[in-house]
Amino acid sequence: MAQIFRAANFVRELEPEDFRVLVGIELGQRRFSHVPIDQISFYCRYPRPETQFRLDKLHKLGLLQRSSQLGYIGYQLIFESYDILALHALGEKEIIKGVGSPIGKGKESDVYFGQSIDGNEIALKFHRIGRTSFRKVRKLRNYVKNRKHISWLYISRLSAESEFAALQRIQPLKLNTPAPFAQNRHVVAMGLIDGQELSTIPQLENPKEVLDEILMQVERFFLEAGMIHCDLCEFNILINPDNEIRIIDWPQWEESTHPNALSYLKRDLENIQIFFTKHYGTTFEIDEVLRTCKLID
Ligand SMILES: Nc1ncnc2c1ncn2[C@@H]1O[C@H](COP(=O)(O)OP(=O)(O)OP(=O)(O)O)[C@@H](O)[C@H]1O
Ligand SMILES: [Mg+2]
Repeated sequence: MAQIFRAANFVRELEPEDFRVLVGIELGQRRFSHVPIDQISFYCRYPRPETQFRLDKLHKLGLLQRSSQLGYIGYQLIFESYDILALHALGEKEIIKGVGSPIGKGKESDVYFGQSIDGNEIALKFHRIGRTSFRKVRKLRNYVKNRKHISWLYISRLSAESEFAALQRIQPLKLNTPAPFAQNRHVVAMGLIDGQELSTIPQLENPKEVLDEILMQVERFFLEAGMIHCDLCEFNILINPDNEIRIIDWPQWEESTHPNALSYLKRDLENIQIFFTKHYGTTFEIDEVLRTCKLID
């Protein structure tokens, strides 16, 4: 938890030269898992001694991973240094002025309270797709398949880009999905939702109404925005104090025209079906929704 505050402090305390070297490593990581010093020096356009001085400083601060296993000394960013670059950029662009305590911690993301430049509370989602966990981002499999070297920075950024694009595309539907404010690297700045995960609510007063509302939204995402959530479940549905639902967590979404659209939508609906059957004994016709979406006759 203290880690994000440490990152925010570094954003204030590091010097412009340090940021430039971090960005140099970031660029180098497109081609190298550990970037050789000469490459870093080339990308940040500093002479080698200055580059080396900055690398030693950043390494001592625990912001770089150094390896000599590849036959040369190379450096890699860690998630914390990537966080620093994203927070720095969001600050420079006058999107945010601070980051606060954690809201939710997942396997593949950390969500924190943030403060927008005009002082409003927002949510900051840091995508953290590790080298072994591409489970969530199916779209990235093609990328991964065709590469010898997989950059987790790149994968995490693609995940954030995918989510930001989804939030932008569904916003006109006015279904109270988080407002997309900005995205930088692996971080999405979005509207804060005052709500509780459906999974953590002991007993809904009106499960049938909530279920109908979820299905109505799923149909509208599909028919009006051409989108399938692809990770719909009780953990990604928030219920606000007025019992209204907000669907979150969009990096895995797919186009309604995707060749596997039927199986993706069906799986989303089955997750909902299983949850409502188990907890409330309420069921619905999956085929009816699939028919409304014109995926079956
Ligand atoms: N905009 C938001 N406003 C308020 N809370 C949020 C917001 N976005 C996410 N959260 C909280 O953070 C949690 C994790 O967010 P999200 O579901 O988007 O990430 P995740 O990638 O699913 O994490 P996991 O790896 O556990 O699946 C959510 O379940 C929710 O409680
Ligand atoms: Mg989630």
